Amino acid sequence: MGQKGGEPPGPRFKRFAIGILVAVAVLLTCGSWRIEVGRRGFVVGRPAPRTYVALRPMTYIDEESTAALRDIAASRVVGVYARDGLIVVDEKATERLRDEIRQTISPIERRIFPGDVLVSDGEVITPADADLLTKQGYLSPDFPWRRLLLTALVVALWGYWQFHFTAAEGSKLALKEESYLLALVIVGWALQFFAGGLKYEATPFGSLPVAGWSFLTLPAGMAYHLVTSAGVMGLLIVMSLESLELMVALLVLAVIGFLGYTLLRWKTDTRFKLWKGLFASGLVGVLMWSLAAWSLQRQIMLQEVLLLVAFGAAFSALAVLLLPVWEELFGILSPIRLMDLSSPAHPLLRRLEVEAPGTYHHSLIVGALAEGAANKLGLNGLLVRVGAYYHDIGKLRRPHFFVENQLQGSNVHDDFSPTLSALSIIAHVREGLEVAREYHLPSRICDFITEHQGTGCLTYFHQKAQSIGEDLPKEQFCYPGPLPSSKETALVMLADSTEAAVRALDISGKEVAHLEEVVSQVVESKVREGQLKRVDFTLRELEIVKEAFVAVLRSMYHTRQVKAIEEEKPLLALASPERAI
Ligand SMILES: [Fe+2]
Ligand SMILES: [Fe+2]
Repeated sequence: MGQKGGEPPGPRFKRFAIGILVAVAVLLTCGSWRIEVGRRGFVVGRPAPRTYVALRPMTYIDEESTAALRDIAASRVVGVYARDGLIVVDEKATERLRDEIRQTISPIERRIFPGDVLVSDGEVITPADADLLTKQGYLSPDFPWRRLLLTALVVALWGYWQFHFTAAEGSKLALKEESYLLALVIVGWALQFFAGGLKYEATPFGSLPVAGWSFLTLPAGMAYHLVTSAGVMGLLIVMSLESLELMVALLVLAVIGFLGYTLLRWKTDTRFKLWKGLFASGLVGVLMWSLAAWSLQRQIMLQEVLLLVAFGAAFSALAVLLLPVWEELFGILSPIRLMDLSSPAHPLLRRLEVEAPGTYHHSLIVGALAEGAANKLGLNGLLVRVGAYYHDIGKLRRPHFFVENQLQGSNVHDDFSPTLSALSIIAHVREGLEVAREYHLPSRICDFITEHQGTGCLTYFHQKAQSIGEDLPKEQFCYPGPLPSSKETALVMLADSTEAAVRALDISGKEVAHLEEVVSQVVESKVREGQLKRVDFTLRELEIVKEAFVAVLRSMYHTRQVKAIEEEKPLLALASPERAI
C-alpha cells in the first residue's frame, strides 16, 4: 500500500474525513462519560449506588470530624461570673472561651489507602464525601461540556494534520487508501471504547488489533504514527484527561506501538505469528501496567492482572479474525494474504501448472528474478513474486498459443495469419483480468497483469505480416498498455522479458558467460522504448536490477548445466525472442 497513485482524495473528502472523526470522537466521549458515571458517578444528598473505595493513597483534612470534635470540646466550657453569691452564665465570655478552645484543637488529618471504604452502599452522600470522591477520581454526573469541546477541538486539529500532512508530504495515497486509514482510526477508537467499557484499565489494549492491521498493511513509519497518535486520541476520548489511569494507559500504548513496530514489521507471514506478536506486545503492556500501578502504590490484584492478560489475548485474536475483512473491503495485501496467494496449492496456480505448465514454469522464474531485484532495492519482494506468479494467467484461455507451452516442432501460429496471432496473444492481458476477477484476486495483483506488457510490440508478427505483403500499422501489433506505474510492476516487466530472452538462447557455457550482456540489452531496450516512463528508477537502481537478475540466472543455469551434463541432452529448445512472449 502507498506505492501506487490512483485517484487522489480531494479536499471534500478531507473535510468529510475530519468531520467524521470529530463526530465519532464526540459520540464516543458522550458514551464513555455515561459508562463512567454509571461506574463511578454519585449525587450529593442521595444514597450511594455502590460502595466507593479509595483508588490511591491520600492525606486530607477531615473538616466534618474536626468541627464535631471542636464542638464537643467547646460545649464543655462555660463562662461564668459571681453576682450576689450566685454563679451566673456569661454569654459573651462563654462564646469567647469556646472560640479559644476550638482554636486549640488542631484539624484532624486523615490518611487513606487504596481499598479503604470511602462511602458504603446506601449511605447518603454528604458534600464532604462528594469532595473526597471527586479528589479520588469519581465523577459527579454533570455533563462534561468542557471535556467534550476540548476533545472535538483536539481531534479536529489532529485530523487536519493527519489528512493535510500526508498531502503536503507528497504522499501518493489514493482515495481508497485514505478511506482505509480513516476506517482504521474509527475502528481503533471504537475498540478502545469497547475495551474501556468492559474494563477501564483495558482501554489501551483496544489498540492491539489496529496495531496488527497497521503494521501488516502500511509502511512501518506510517503504521507506527497511526498506532501511537490515533491511539493517544482514543485514550483522550475514552478516558478523562484528569484521570491518573490515563498516564498509565499512555505508557501501555507506547509499549504496544514500539513492540508492534519491532515484532510485526518483519516476517509476519502467518496468522499465528500475527497473534503471537500482538499478544507479546499486550503481555509487556500488562507488565508495564503492573509496574506503574506498583509505583503509584496501588494495590495490584492477581485477578486484575490475569484479566488484562486475557484482554491482550482476546484483542490479538480479534486482529487475526478481522484481517480478511479489511483485505476484502479495501483490497489490502498483508504478508499473510500474499503467502496464501503464493502457495502452489492456490487453485489458480494449480490450474496454471496443469493446463499451461510452460507458463507456470516461466512465471516461477520471473518471480524469482523479480523478487531478487525487489529485495535488493528494498521493495516488497513477496508482493513482486506473487505478482509475477499471476502475471500471465490470461494464457490459461489458450495455453498452446504461447511458445512456452508448445511442444517442439508444433506451432499453431503456422496456420494463422500474423494479425490473428498477434490479436490472440495480446488478448492474454485482458483475459488475465477476467480470470483474476473470477478468482477474486486483489487489485494490487491485477496491476501486474495489466501493466507487465506495457505498450510493447510483437515485432516478429509485424515483420511476418510485412513479409507476406500485409502492410499494417505497427500499433496493431502492440499491447494497449498501461505502462507500469510502480517499481514492483516494472520489475516484473523486466524479469518477464529477461526470462523470455534467456529462454530463447541455447544455453551453453558460452552463453552463460554472456548472461550479463543479454540482461543489459533487455533492460536498456525497455528504457529506450519508454516502457519505464512512469517509474522513477535511478541509473544506479537499474544497475542493481541487472546485477540481481544475473545473479539469479547464474545460480539457476549453473544447476541446470550440471543436470544437463548428467543427462547428456540439450537444455532448452531454440526459440525466437520475439515469440517468447
Ligand atoms: Fe505476458
Ligand atoms: Fe510472462
